[in-house]
Amino acid sequence: MGKHPVLATSYVLLTLQNCRIQLSLLLHQGAGHWYAHPQTNEDKMSIVRFSVSLEKELVSEFDRKIKAERCPTRSKAVGDLIRATLVQTEWQAGAEVAGAIVLVYDHHKRDVVKRLMDLQHDCHDAIISTQHIHLDHDNCLEIVAVRGTPAEIEAVAKRLKTVKGLKHVSLAAGTTGARMP
Ligand code: NI
Repeated sequence: MGKHPVLATSYVLLTLQNCRIQLSLLLHQGAGHWYAHPQTNEDKMSIVRFSVSLEKELVSEFDRKIKAERCPTRSKAVGDLIRATLVQTEWQAGAEVAGAIVLVYDHHKRDVVKRLMDLQHDCHDAIISTQHIHLDHDNCLEIVAVRGTPAEIEAVAKRLKTVKGLKHVSLAAGTTGARMP
């Protein structure tokens, strides 16, 4: 049982023996009635421990990498790798995904701004937001947030890449997070 803060309103904690349910009963005096807030252990994320056997040199290399990246624990590093693989699987499976297309260009170049604007309007179903940053007098960075099937998103990136005058185009393949633990 965890500790509960003392509330200004009347507070009653019932401990039920042989039962893992905590009932925090708060008496809202002003409202004149009781609210029950059940909390169960299911609210907490369950953690599974498992052992993995790997070559010593591979583990040493992995430890060097996560230390360089200042990753706090091996568990966090392994979890990140698993999530990255799950995102790849989402893209391969054709599920709804999200990501960002990054563009860099000189806005003085002929028609580049107009061409990008026209294309983004053509692809308005997949483009959910665009952020434009003026990097310096000439160069602009544009972050185009996209959401849809991988085929739709890749089609948008492909069309944007056709614009002449771009200095950089890249697609960061992400996830909507809806199916990600
Ligand atoms: Ni600009």
